[in-house]
Amino acid sequence: MTRRPTAILISGRGSNMVSLIAAAMRPDFPAEIRVVISNRPDAAGLERARTAGVEAIAIDHKDYASKEDFEGAVQAALDERGIQLVCLAGFMRILTDGFLRRWGNNIINIHPSLLPAFKGLDTHHRALESGVRIAGCTVHVVRPEMDSGPIIAQAAVPVLPDDSEDTLAARVLDAEHQLYPRALALYASGKARVSGERIIFEGDAKSSDPAIYSLPAGD
Ligand code: GRF
Repeated sequence: MTRRPTAILISGRGSNMVSLIAAAMRPDFPAEIRVVISNRPDAAGLERARTAGVEAIAIDHKDYASKEDFEGAVQAALDERGIQLVCLAGFMRILTDGFLRRWGNNIINIHPSLLPAFKGLDTHHRALESGVRIAGCTVHVVRPEMDSGPIIAQAAVPVLPDDSEDTLAARVLDAEHQLYPRALALYASGKARVSGERIIFEGDAKSSDPAIYSLPAGD
């Protein structure tokens, strides 16, 4: 089995990153996490990655005169390490069309809503305001339009009557930690791949498996 050389881009605490690194410790996992890159030198995730034995570097966007220069530095770091697949995990910079074109279908992201609902920031607040009864998260291939692109996998969680933003965010985050490694495994192995602007499943991946996980309501 080939393990695809993979990078994770973060900006903050890196809890999804930790779940990806943990999953990729298994020798049969189809992606090898070679490097974690943060655009913020103070991101807590950098130290968490190093503790887990993964190289972690900061490339501070503030050190570069333009977005393109910043992305050029990121690209060089990825190239040096032979990276073939990029996972965004709480990476808070909008990437340029040029960078995304370079990566094509080989850059994926996790978003804390059931896309295409609640794109952008502040998703849990807006979910509660709207009165939806089901929330969740989405792993998708990244396209230039924010929080759009072929959907690899989604996980659904209930919205409970007494939820605050914090309790809903925590429930969704728990689902994210379960979903992202499974989505990455499907995608890195080629069992899930882009066809048109949708994902199709092949081999022993059942289309019902990665589509929705009904998670227990919790407390
Ligand atoms: C997650 O909710 C993710 O979906 C969003 O940003 C958050 C990052 O959290 N894109 P963490 O850094 O992985 O803990």
